[in-house]
Amino acid sequence: MKVIGRRAEMAALSDAWRRRGLALGFVPTMGALHEGHAALIRRARRQNKRVAVSIFVNPAQFGPKEDLSRYPRPFAADRRLCERLGVDALYHPSAREVYPKGVRTTVEVQGLSDLLCGAVRPGHFKGVATVVLKLFVTVRPSRAYFGEKDFQQLQIVRRMVRDLDLPVEIVGCPTVRDGDGLALSSRNAYLSPFERAVAPKLHQALRLGARLARKAGTPLRLLREVRRELLMIPGATIDYVSVVDPASLEDARRLKGRLRLLTAVRVGKTRLIDNIALSC
Ligand code: PAF
Repeated sequence: MKVIGRRAEMAALSDAWRRRGLALGFVPTMGALHEGHAALIRRARRQNKRVAVSIFVNPAQFGPKEDLSRYPRPFAADRRLCERLGVDALYHPSAREVYPKGVRTTVEVQGLSDLLCGAVRPGHFKGVATVVLKLFVTVRPSRAYFGEKDFQQLQIVRRMVRDLDLPVEIVGCPTVRDGDGLALSSRNAYLSPFERAVAPKLHQALRLGARLARKAGTPLRLLREVRRELLMIPGATIDYVSVVDPASLEDARRLKGRLRLLTAVRVGKTRLIDNIALSC
């Protein structure tokens, strides 16, 4: 496995693969890799001749009061995992490499970026879209893999790719969960043992919502039940819980067709997100 810090080197390797007709699967990450990332890498491995992973803790997607400085960075372990999973290139650039001095251009997917997590984390999705586009330009993958746990991010990336005619296929992959249902996330490491014990209730509340999808009658009634469950999690505060159209992320007016139930909850100081499909 090649570990690459320079943009030009990553682009040249990808060009060489493309000239040989080798499809490249790409998994962008911020490191602290877990089974969720491993599932994305395995899928990329199955569907492509070459696989690249990026590890870059993107400062542009963290707010001033967020956890940029304490975000976990276990690079040696991440590198070993990538090696074990048969990754061909690990792109690990510095912040200066990605954002050279004087950079002024950003990308924003309007509308989709201001809702849900975007309403609570202003500027977050502008940072995500900008870095993902920059990574796509450097890595130039045939396919890129994103987890459904970050459902809003996945829809924003899909929309950016469509709107900017980017020649990459976006592959959304199911959320990977611990045995008790908690969605895997690098931020789970912040939970105290007590918080970790109660955190699976988030998924349980969403499952209740999925069960009620055909019975509740209206989104409002369904949300009232789910909110009631979420509020029973000790020490939890709800950022949002919404039933939305999966493509536009706009609030559903009726429980009809395929919808998505999404939530963000703070358990102690840790913000957890999760979502589930509803078929009504
Ligand atoms: O999901 C993540 O880890 C990040 O938001 C991403 C897509 C790697 C962009 O920094």
